[in-house]
Amino acid sequence: MRFAPILRNPRRRRLLRSVNPSLAAMSPPAAAHLATASDPDEDLCLSTEPVAPAEEASPPLPAPPPPVSAEERVERAWAHWRRLGSPKMVVAPMVDNSELPFRMLCRRYGATAAYTPMLHSRIFSENEKHRAMEFTTCKEDRPLFVQFCANDPDILLQAAKIVEPYCDYVDINFGCPQRIARRGYYGAFLMDNLPLVKSLVQNLSANLHVPVSCKIRIFPRLEDTLAYAKMLEEAGASLVAVHGRTRDEKDGKKFRADWDAIKAVKDALRIPVLANGNIRHLDDVKDCLEHTGADGVLSAETLLENPALFAGFRTKEWKENGDEDEASGLDQADLVIEYLKLCEQYPVPWRMVRSHVHKMLGDWFRVHPQVREELNAQSKLTFEWLHDMVKRLKDLGGGIPLYRNNNALQTTSNGLAASNA
Ligand SMILES: Cc1cc2nc3c(=O)[nH]c(=O)nc-3n(C[C@H](O)[C@H](O)[C@H](O)COP(=O)(O)O)c2cc1C
Repeated sequence: MRFAPILRNPRRRRLLRSVNPSLAAMSPPAAAHLATASDPDEDLCLSTEPVAPAEEASPPLPAPPPPVSAEERVERAWAHWRRLGSPKMVVAPMVDNSELPFRMLCRRYGATAAYTPMLHSRIFSENEKHRAMEFTTCKEDRPLFVQFCANDPDILLQAAKIVEPYCDYVDINFGCPQRIARRGYYGAFLMDNLPLVKSLVQNLSANLHVPVSCKIRIFPRLEDTLAYAKMLEEAGASLVAVHGRTRDEKDGKKFRADWDAIKAVKDALRIPVLANGNIRHLDDVKDCLEHTGADGVLSAETLLENPALFAGFRTKEWKENGDEDEASGLDQADLVIEYLKLCEQYPVPWRMVRSHVHKMLGDWFRVHPQVREELNAQSKLTFEWLHDMVKRLKDLGGGIPLYRNNNALQTTSNGLAASNA
């Protein structure tokens, strides 16, 4: 019961309460079982010294508003979006990867909103331990989309009610194309059952205080995509994020996202629309917003390697002539250190930490594979070991910093890319 003494410490309990609504309700004995995972990577990463200030949980929300006309719903959708600052650069949902410390790192580097990883609505609503491990947030973690997968409207609502005081949208994942989604009958496999999709959106939007958003993939035929998107809007969605690939186009590196289809959805809908796919650096953000007319963009895979993408940094792959300004370089190892400090502040399961360290340091590990092997051999990670590993890598050298082209795009407060050239 390694966890129990920590939770008996009142300061420690306050810390955990501040970042996790489920833990707030747990007594020390109830929370102690979090320490019993047999795989150490499933334990929360806790350092010995807490560093987060205590915060109080949000007050309960009032009852959901009464039904309104379609016209009014569209107006409200825009008013809400504007109240959030019309965020243009959004961290996409990523299982095991868009967790609180990573979101906070991306926010420091230009992201103006973020999604949680997909949460399983049934497991989330039934299992307190799952909630405690998989959903944490803090006051600065806004605007926030909390994403669920679901195929039962009532279970989805139950799960959404738990998180609604802590987020700005409850999002439904209609885009996951993986085998696990086929087996669980959720994500993109609900594209075969649009009446169910409609009832999930209707039930949620009619009973929640926060707006509902949907993340979708496109159909092979544009007219099907447009009918689908319009149905979501009519069912009560306040925002739609469009990943411009079909359910069968699973490999993002192999298939370019279809920005024309995203533009067609944007033109057809009256609510805010976000574009997803092909965002690898800040020029892509500008090009995508111009091409599609979308209200913002989501980025996923590139952010994992380069969490500073939205601040204008790019990896060597996208370096252009004239970018070699050493003064503007940002070392990925320093980003890892920043991320580790955020993990100490906002504990998450070690498997998430491990995943980010691999992705952010991928280039260095290719130069020094022995260090990657040492990391893989560590069945139980500690912050001390990770900090030491990063220091050793830096001493070995060979990492290529992220570059920012000082003559190119800059970001403004709402994340809109603007040229200062
Ligand atoms: C590691 C990883 C995990 C992902 N998990 C989710 C998820 O939980 N929910 C979701 O809707 N999409 C998920 N996606 C898909 C992304 O949100 C995004 O739609 C997709 O990667 C395309 O964006 P990109 O071209 O910027 O990578 C995931 C992608 C990656 C790389």
